[in-house]
Amino acid sequence: MPDIRADGYTVVPSVLTAGQIAAGRRIVADMLAEDPPPADRTGPYFLWPRFDADGRLRDFYRDIDLAGLAGRVLTQTPEEPDAAQVAVTLPPFSHRPGGPHVDGLTPMAPDGRPGTFSLLAGVWLTDQSETDRGNLWVWPGTHLRFGAYLADRGADALVRVDEMNPGPYPKIDLGEPTQVTGAAGSVLFAHYLLAHNIGGHEGDERRETIYYRLHTPGHRERWRDVVTHPLLELR
Ligand SMILES: [Fe+2]
Repeated sequence: MPDIRADGYTVVPSVLTAGQIAAGRRIVADMLAEDPPPADRTGPYFLWPRFDADGRLRDFYRDIDLAGLAGRVLTQTPEEPDAAQVAVTLPPFSHRPGGPHVDGLTPMAPDGRPGTFSLLAGVWLTDQSETDRGNLWVWPGTHLRFGAYLADRGADALVRVDEMNPGPYPKIDLGEPTQVTGAAGSVLFAHYLLAHNIGGHEGDERRETIYYRLHTPGHRERWRDVVTHPLLELR
């Protein structure tokens, strides 16, 4: 099992009950029916529901106690998020990522702060036991090397995407990527700085993940410390 501190991500199996998986899939199906992808679309398709307008995925977050689970990884229980991302990959999607990216820089948060967070939580509603089923690709350990890169240059180098590879992701040693695997009902936790990207899908079933980007209390004020000390908010 990958280790969140050493590898920058981990997968917690069997978080959701069968009933919770089914409830999550109903919400996703309803949202996609309300906001469908174009008929001929394959590959990734995203929705970004904000909870002030649509609280269904806030209720789901509470129902599966994602805050409690994340609180076992983070030094503090995260604040409740105000939005989620519905991420589906529609097969067939023949694709190998050319490189990774970091979230939250293109575009930046409305306040000019880079869109950092304490932890990415991906709730898997469909099976991802096999590779090449729309699995997330990650480059293990890059959260530490990206943190060292920012400690050398200062945290504000995070927003200087012109100094990075186009992902955007900095020019650091990436190592070899791996596809994250696990059963439906698992939760992926990933570090903000971890190199990652969307993978291809050679299977038949639509891959469905709900992402929540979690912030500990005070994260937005201390983001410079967090990105230069990447283990700061982890237990
Ligand atoms: Fe991403």
